[in-house]
Amino acid sequence: MVERVKGIQGLDKALNGGIPEGNMVLVSGGAGTGKSTLCLQFLMNGANLFGEKGLYVSTEQSLAELRKQAASFNWDLDGLINKNMLKILYFDITKGDSFMKKLDETINSFKPKRIVIDSMTTLTDALLVSGIEEDSAFSMVQIAETVSPIPKTEQIIAKSILYRLILELKKHEVTTMLTSELFEGSDRLSADGISEFITDGVIVLNALAVGDQMNRTLQIRKMRYTPIEAGINSYSIMDKGISFED
Ligand SMILES: Nc1ncnc2c1ncn2[C@@H]1O[C@H](COP(=O)(O)OP(=O)(O)OP(=O)(O)O)[C@@H](O)[C@H]1O
Ligand SMILES: [Mg+2]
Repeated sequence: MVERVKGIQGLDKALNGGIPEGNMVLVSGGAGTGKSTLCLQFLMNGANLFGEKGLYVSTEQSLAELRKQAASFNWDLDGLINKNMLKILYFDITKGDSFMKKLDETINSFKPKRIVIDSMTTLTDALLVSGIEEDSAFSMVQIAETVSPIPKTEQIIAKSILYRLILELKKHEVTTMLTSELFEGSDRLSADGISEFITDGVIVLNALAVGDQMNRTLQIRKMRYTPIEAGINSYSIMDKGISFED
């Protein structure tokens, strides 16, 4: 029987009990749809309710910014960090930090059960901009060489990152959420157009302003190893974070 990793009520129900353990799940959505909030809440609940350690790898918001976000929901981020149940790892992609190496070291020492990578889009963009620099910045020498004569498109780079991540994360039996930006009107499920095929699950977040209301909806487009409830799940982001409507 597949073990479930529970995080947020409503989402777990739609997933028939939670994310199958070990899955790598893409969380896609437009700007401000709540990707980071959903991911952070998944880790907060994991630590608070299930005693599972969470690692939040951020390439966008710094620790101070994540603190500010958590404080707006009254979440005790620092309490969990001090208890060694939560770790925030911030990568400044403009500095070419060695992403894979640092990730590997942190996973080995911290031993998280849940990991968030926010965001896949920034990682891909960093490699696109730096071109061949990925060798030093991301230790992706082998993959970079095998695709060498082919121009490094967003999709090839996204694939390289994902294959490296899959190799890395599958070793450790962790459940992962990766975020991806979606542009308004895009018919893709990720910014790079490839992550949705490689990951085990795809959750798409939407926000539509109707009058003075924000209609927020979540759709599970795919989740390997479990049946899912078809349909649209409505949620709101309020003073305690994300909550789903019954
Ligand atoms: N304390 C709060 N109370 C109510 N709503 C909030 C609160 N904090 C944030 N929000 C809402 O959540 C939205 C942002 O959520 P979040 O940062 O998780 O989105 P995101 O999808 O990660 O955005 P981005 O694309 O910028 O990374 C805000 O635009 C705001 O509408
Ligand atoms: Mg975000």
